[in-house]
Amino acid sequence: MIHAPHLDLFRRLTQELDQPPAADAGIVMLSTDRYLDPARLAGEKQKLFGGLPLLVAHGSELPPGHVMAFDRLDLPVILTRGKEGQVRAFVNACRHRGTRLVSGEAPKSANRIICPYHAWSYRLSGELASVPLEAEAFPGLEKSDYGLMELPAEERGGFIWLMADREGRFDLDDYVGDLAGDFEALGVAGHVVFAKRVERVPANWKLISDAFHESYHVKRLHSASLAGFFKDSIVVDDWPGLHARFAIARTDLTAVSEPADAAELRTLVTFAYTVFPNTTLIVSPDYINVLTFYPVSAGETVAVDTMLIPEPPANEAEREHWQRSSDLIHDQVFAGEDFRAAALCHEGIAAGITELTIGHHERGILEFHRRIDEALGGEAPAHRSA
Ligand code: FES
Ligand SMILES: [Fe+2]
Repeated sequence: MIHAPHLDLFRRLTQELDQPPAADAGIVMLSTDRYLDPARLAGEKQKLFGGLPLLVAHGSELPPGHVMAFDRLDLPVILTRGKEGQVRAFVNACRHRGTRLVSGEAPKSANRIICPYHAWSYRLSGELASVPLEAEAFPGLEKSDYGLMELPAEERGGFIWLMADREGRFDLDDYVGDLAGDFEALGVAGHVVFAKRVERVPANWKLISDAFHESYHVKRLHSASLAGFFKDSIVVDDWPGLHARFAIARTDLTAVSEPADAAELRTLVTFAYTVFPNTTLIVSPDYINVLTFYPVSAGETVAVDTMLIPEPPANEAEREHWQRSSDLIHDQVFAGEDFRAAALCHEGIAAGITELTIGHHERGILEFHRRIDEALGGEAPAHRSA
């Protein structure tokens, strides 16, 4: 059975093959202060990265009975998964005198989180478990009042989601919405991480994301890598909630017949998602890349690329096969082409380009920025017609 939203996009895509629709969006100009202005970035950090549920990891990255630091946001976070499987998040700070508790993003097996300073210890559920010399040093201390500061976190669709705002609304049924069904149909929860690559990119985070909202560049920027796998700029999209689903026509797609199953569908169509605000999922025929863009400053971004494969490699030959895929898709395509293009774009904008010229095949960029503007409270108009 093919997941209904995937089949729907497939059918719309084959219609575009027969008869490309007339360009209707016209040319639109997008002002570039949105990429350069530090005040704008501060607002994004507060409202998007501080106030929305974020997809921060694949579930398999944090096994039961493990803890890891998560340092991609302005707030230092600890992620834990208890032996019973429950994922939780806490501010990475001791309730005694504030010391950072966990260092390093690699997950560590642990029964307790032990502060490096005076060894107060916490359970993975966040409760304060023990205090050295408690009776004489802290007579009357109510340990139950000194648990770690908890943040909203939960697993959904095979991913771990986190919100840095302890008071904000965290409703994943509403926020993730229909995408959870897509991730289930793609078997995300059963995948494992083959490779996780982290790059610092000298570009605004949205410029990197823009590259994943249009396929006009695929035949050009990716001429030495991916171009042969895709038709030119034949894409359909829909926008569940704040997010986006894209179906991109691969070379073998014809309007003749429908695929027999989901595996065949993935050889004809590449599905890509924007998980608002800062994650892109790209569904290749036999693996999935999860790209997440964390702003450092207006002109610098940490891009995390997690490559998911259906099961661990069974032998060296399989490992080498996945390694070749990973090297192609990450080193050559993402880092060498998409991220590099974003960095070059940032350079040009910083040199004085005040507006970007957005054409029909790039209208996904406008939809993305419209959602950002709305989430920021609808400040400056996103764009004007040329
Ligand atoms: S600061 Fe953590 S135990 Fe003292
Ligand atoms: Fe690209």
